[in-house]
Amino acid sequence: MKTEVIKLDINNIDLDKLNYAAQILKDGGLVAFPTETVYGLGANALDESAVKRIFEAKGRPSDNPLIVHIADIGQVSGLVKAIPPEAFAVMERFWPGPLTLVMEKSLIIPEVITAGLDTVAIRMPSHPVALALIKEAGIPIAAPSANTSGKPSPTSSQHVIEDLYGKVDVIIEAGCSKVGLESTVLDMTVLPPMILRPGGITPVELNTVLGKVDIDPSLVSKETEILKPRSPGMKYTHYSPKAKVIIIEGDIQSVVSKVLELQGEYAQKGAKVGILATEQTKDMYSSAEIISMGDRNEPATIAANLFAALREFDMRQVDVILAEAIESTGIGLAIMNRMSKAAGYNIIKV
Ligand code: TXA
Ligand code: MG
Repeated sequence: MKTEVIKLDINNIDLDKLNYAAQILKDGGLVAFPTETVYGLGANALDESAVKRIFEAKGRPSDNPLIVHIADIGQVSGLVKAIPPEAFAVMERFWPGPLTLVMEKSLIIPEVITAGLDTVAIRMPSHPVALALIKEAGIPIAAPSANTSGKPSPTSSQHVIEDLYGKVDVIIEAGCSKVGLESTVLDMTVLPPMILRPGGITPVELNTVLGKVDIDPSLVSKETEILKPRSPGMKYTHYSPKAKVIIIEGDIQSVVSKVLELQGEYAQKGAKVGILATEQTKDMYSSAEIISMGDRNEPATIAANLFAALREFDMRQVDVILAEAIESTGIGLAIMNRMSKAAGYNIIKV
């Protein structure tokens, strides 16, 4: 399939190009577009055959439901049975933004979107290009992350091109995704609402509006393998680069010592070693592929760089990635969730 790459300036969106991409969505085509979390692969959410093409392009298991993206709170009522009062409050506070709400679906939502569940996940992204595109298309847009299933989510158009060139109609290019991790998925069908996937909006932020939110026990338990996550997508070992990932967790000095020790061991076996470090530690290593994820004191910088760093290590063809754990508070909860999945829960505590 021929894929067109269309460049848009986030501060001055070319309306002809935008209309062109919106028309492709209306005609049942696939358009990858930037959001503030990660790039998404969009199709008309109400067109079953268009949505099926998303699953084909990504190689996505059909039992993993999709998020429906909107550009106006007014669109929600047609997509759900009823809007719980608590949902209104969080929409007003956090939309547009990196928060997805799960509610009971209306009959208009095709089964292929929800993988047979009677709930639907809805999000209003804040990226100006995403909002303008959805508004112009005038339809709700189903959009998973625009990566090949199993790979780290794409935070730049280059990542999308690597995975989906030749498999989609259009890839819109408009810089890097600022948040860098996917949205928080919050189940509004239970009280207190429950976080099914940690993401761009933290539990503390949600608590300011909701008083209390629960976190799906499978996300925080060490028994992750036996507890069944309630968000179908969370059960897959994804976010994985090709290399074997090992997380080292503990106080910084012990972590650095352990990384150095393991680096030596793997190097001796002839493996090419990558070290996923931080600004605070990157200069303590040498003779390995070293990438700083960001600043431990500003974990948002780590969130923004994590997926790109994992992809970069694949480009450099490392065999083993030794990754420093960071504190799992605030956005750190989402960072460590994605990192643990990338590592297949291979975590060494020191
Ligand atoms: O930030 C994001 O959410 C990005 C951008 C493109 O908006 N999208 C994204 O979509 O991450 P995807 O398909 O990669 O992840 C959607 C997650 C999956 O874990 C899926 O299982 C869950 O949302 N999900 C979708 N519908 C659900 C539902 N009805 N109930 C529970 N979980 C649901
Ligand atoms: Mg995804």
